[in-house]
Amino acid sequence: MKVLHTSFECYPLAKVGGLADVVGALPKYLTALDCHTEVIMPMYDNAAMQSQSYHTVYNGTIRLGNDPYDYEIKEITSAGLGFTIYAVAIPALLYRPKPYGYHDDTERFLSFQLAVLDWLCTLEELPSIIHCHDHHTGLIPFLVAHAHAYEKLRTIPTVLTIHNAQYEGYFSHDKMYLIPSFDFEKAGLLDWGQSINPLAAAIKCAWKVTTVSPSYMEELQQFANGLEGLLSHENEKCMGILNGIDPDVWDPATDPMVITNYDSTTLLEGRAKNKEWICQEFGLDIDKPLFAFIGRMVYEKGADLLPDIVSQTLADKDVSLLILGSGKHDIEERLEALKPHYTGRYNTYIGYDEKLSHIIYAGADFLLMPSRVEPCGLNQMYALRYGLIPIVRRIGGLKDTIPDIGDGGYGICHDQASVQDVCYSIGRAVELYEDKEQYQALQERIITIDNSWNYSAKQYRELYKSLNQLK
Ligand code: ADP
Ligand code: GLC
Repeated sequence: MKVLHTSFECYPLAKVGGLADVVGALPKYLTALDCHTEVIMPMYDNAAMQSQSYHTVYNGTIRLGNDPYDYEIKEITSAGLGFTIYAVAIPALLYRPKPYGYHDDTERFLSFQLAVLDWLCTLEELPSIIHCHDHHTGLIPFLVAHAHAYEKLRTIPTVLTIHNAQYEGYFSHDKMYLIPSFDFEKAGLLDWGQSINPLAAAIKCAWKVTTVSPSYMEELQQFANGLEGLLSHENEKCMGILNGIDPDVWDPATDPMVITNYDSTTLLEGRAKNKEWICQEFGLDIDKPLFAFIGRMVYEKGADLLPDIVSQTLADKDVSLLILGSGKHDIEERLEALKPHYTGRYNTYIGYDEKLSHIIYAGADFLLMPSRVEPCGLNQMYALRYGLIPIVRRIGGLKDTIPDIGDGGYGICHDQASVQDVCYSIGRAVELYEDKEQYQALQERIITIDNSWNYSAKQYRELYKSLNQLK
């Protein structure tokens, strides 16, 4: 069996969020299970991709409407990820510093998908499964099933994984001319809410639809920005498979990004060194419990609640807060504006910094995840692996991975994404922190929890096998 994953992110070559971590790790675990897995992603203009070695395996041309674009398929020979990875080079459209956020994203997403399919048609050995991630590659299941040009790929089963249904990638019917010709009676499969909707088209056309936790799959049937009816209708082919983490990358004993490495036997000293560095760097008091947030500053993550959480917490609790993230400018500005009021107790790093995130996992005392929507969430699993206690809202993957300490679990949970609920949880965390024996016992326990891909990769392998039997 040969599986091809198509994705716009793959760690460490291009990362915006957890999608990159999943695509950079799951294929390695599948390959180890004798399920040969390859990844194809766009070629970006970023340092991580510029520093790789490449071997060109194919040159071709696609058409977006009337416009021809030459493309190149390059195998990345130096990535050392434990699986084969290819980059699609289309200089005019894909060679940009970031994966997304451009005025011509629709054309960019389409060009990548067309180049992948065009190239696959030239191969002698076709993949047994094409696995698409999110709406960026969501037109592939439709094109494989119905576009005239890809007849050769018709019987290949397609899988869609929804990492985040907040983003659907829809665009106007005016752009229908960009899509290669297909039987026009199938046009309805592309449409949702009078737009061409790649996520909806993938939900309709993929042979299987997965999302990244069982709870999020249930939630999506109730609320999915207008796609809930479609997801309930397609319920039979949908399933939630919890993400894992890659313990080779996320290991406090070997992580080259942290200040001091540690394992379960040296956890207290190791974590104290990392906390010391953070407190020096950000002017915080090492003796106070340190609460951190790491993530995209968007409504889904509950980031808009952070300014009030900071003010209310610092009004009556003797703790420190550190926030790492970027996103909505109004949230960033409100968080920055609070700094002069709480010097020595609160700080921020507005931006993306992979190294700093690792040090925070290794040195903070509690991690805040007040998410409104959390399909899976990886931060809480990284936190456990580094001995950092997560405070999470019971939603999506957070609900599936973090049981509350009151129920014999290992996190602090609240039901609402509200300032009040988060502050109440912070109060519980302070009590726990003060009970040194219980606090340290919990840290020693969580660092041993196995959330690696080993289990979930087997579920994907079984899913692929079942699809191959249907062919
Ligand atoms: P999402 O994909 O929705 O952003 P996840 O929890 O799945 O959420 O994954 C987020 C990933 O991105 C984690 O690896 C987290 O450490 C990382 N991350 C998020 N924001 C930042 C940031 N500002 N700097 C460094 N790493 C970040
Ligand atoms: C998305 C989700 C996040 C999930 C990640 C990887 O970005 O927001 O919850 O962990 O994808 O699947």
